[in-house]
Amino acid sequence: MPTQRPSSTLTRGAQLPEVELVPRVPQEADIVVVGLAGSTEAPLLVGAPAPVEKAAPAPLREIAQDLGARPASGHTALLPRFGQQLLVVGLGGEELTPEQARRSCGSALRAATEHAGERSLHVAISLETAEAELVRGALEGALLGSYGFTPLGSEPKRPVARISLVTSLSGAPAQQALADARAIAGAVLVAREWVNTPANILYPESFSQDVRELVKGTKLDVQVLDEKQLAKEGFGGILAVGGGSQRPPRLVRVDHHPRGAKNHLVLVGKGITFDTGGLNLKPAEGMYTMKCDMGGAAAVLAATVAIAELGLDVHVTTYAPMAENMPSGSSYRPSDVLTMYGGTTVENVNSDAEGRLVMADALARSQADKADLVVDVATLTGACMVALGNRIAGLMASDDQTADMVLDAAETAGEEFWQLPVPEHIRSSLESKVADLKSSGSRLGGAMAAAAFLQHFVADDTAWAHLDIAGPAFNDEAARDYTSTGGTGHAVRTLVELARGLQD
Ligand code: BES
Ligand code: MN
Ligand code: ZN
Repeated sequence: MPTQRPSSTLTRGAQLPEVELVPRVPQEADIVVVGLAGSTEAPLLVGAPAPVEKAAPAPLREIAQDLGARPASGHTALLPRFGQQLLVVGLGGEELTPEQARRSCGSALRAATEHAGERSLHVAISLETAEAELVRGALEGALLGSYGFTPLGSEPKRPVARISLVTSLSGAPAQQALADARAIAGAVLVAREWVNTPANILYPESFSQDVRELVKGTKLDVQVLDEKQLAKEGFGGILAVGGGSQRPPRLVRVDHHPRGAKNHLVLVGKGITFDTGGLNLKPAEGMYTMKCDMGGAAAVLAATVAIAELGLDVHVTTYAPMAENMPSGSSYRPSDVLTMYGGTTVENVNSDAEGRLVMADALARSQADKADLVVDVATLTGACMVALGNRIAGLMASDDQTADMVLDAAETAGEEFWQLPVPEHIRSSLESKVADLKSSGSRLGGAMAAAAFLQHFVADDTAWAHLDIAGPAFNDEAARDYTSTGGTGHAVRTLVELARGLQD
């Protein structure tokens, strides 16, 4: 079992509740989560403990229904105490899938946290889940659903201290499901905490310092380049974007290199700790949520920690270029020509297209690793949100086989991506009269143009996938199922699954 995650200063609220797998509902649990399946006309109560059923004055199914419980996914109702307090959660009718288990348990734990008083709760989940995938899904959803960002200045609270999942699964598959759920949910929470931490507290230097602290006690190797080293090595994109801020940029490189690992995966994540737009200043409404613009860096770094914790047998090298995009007398300008890492020159069209510049430097740097697969993750374009909304991320790739590999991993992980093309005419729209290429073309097809720009910095024969998470990285609506308000940690689970699939 993985050890307790070392606590770092900025991710202090990402502590997981204790989790265990048990053969029957523990007497001492404060709340027992049971399921409601079937249809509204013929609902079916799943997992209710026999002593509670006996103590109830009428069939529990009828009581649940009278109190408004529905089989619809995520619908919850708290039943009066007949021995133990039951929280009924809709399982969504048909046969339970891992993602439905995740969502239902997420909803259940969110509802449970609302009933937590001063004392931390012990929640038991009894849904008759026996398969490893369902057990893992249920645990992941429960752990993610129990999370809320702790207001700064107060001690992190733990509304749920312990989760006991009732299952007949035992032995190695049970231990694996538990280890997976803990490592993956733990990583998602770390990514959420980083995203939720405001930009006056999380900035390139403090973010990179936090990465160092987080990986203490793991076998991960960390390197951080400061602004002087970045200048010496010619990281013209990161320096230009970071140049307008009082807070200098950083490039973090983390390496997970198990002896004998055959495949090599490179991850690159956009780490703009705040995006004002720079001299092409964003309007106030568009700027407010821009502390989320390091969501790609948060995802790749947190996923790398989970990959190391799980001891996955694949070489992973992760880059997180970090900068703050600010307007000032030292900002880079529209029409500036930048020399990127490796020598490519770029005409900067719009200083709000900053993400692709820091990503290009990191992608160019990663070419020396000669990886089998390069995956980059970025809150890159508003255009991708216009196309796919805020729950589905964009996926663009060098070839369909690579895209399918990512889509398969995402399916297993329970995250949504949709493939967009990178057509030739979009590529040629980036031709510049004063440099090798310009940073953006027409406003139309903006997500594809950004991808075409990035691909310029990846060798033609390298398998590459680009995940534009501008929409799903940040939830500015109410919490739902296992997705909290604010940072979501989108892409973390897919990246871990992808790495798992690259083991030999
Ligand atoms: N960080 C933004 C993209 C973004 C927008 C992320 C909304 C999350 C929510 C990015 O740096 C940006 O400003 N992109 C511009 C590019 C344009 C100037 C070519 C955009 O999408 O408008
Ligand atoms: Mn921008
Ligand atoms: Zn940005």
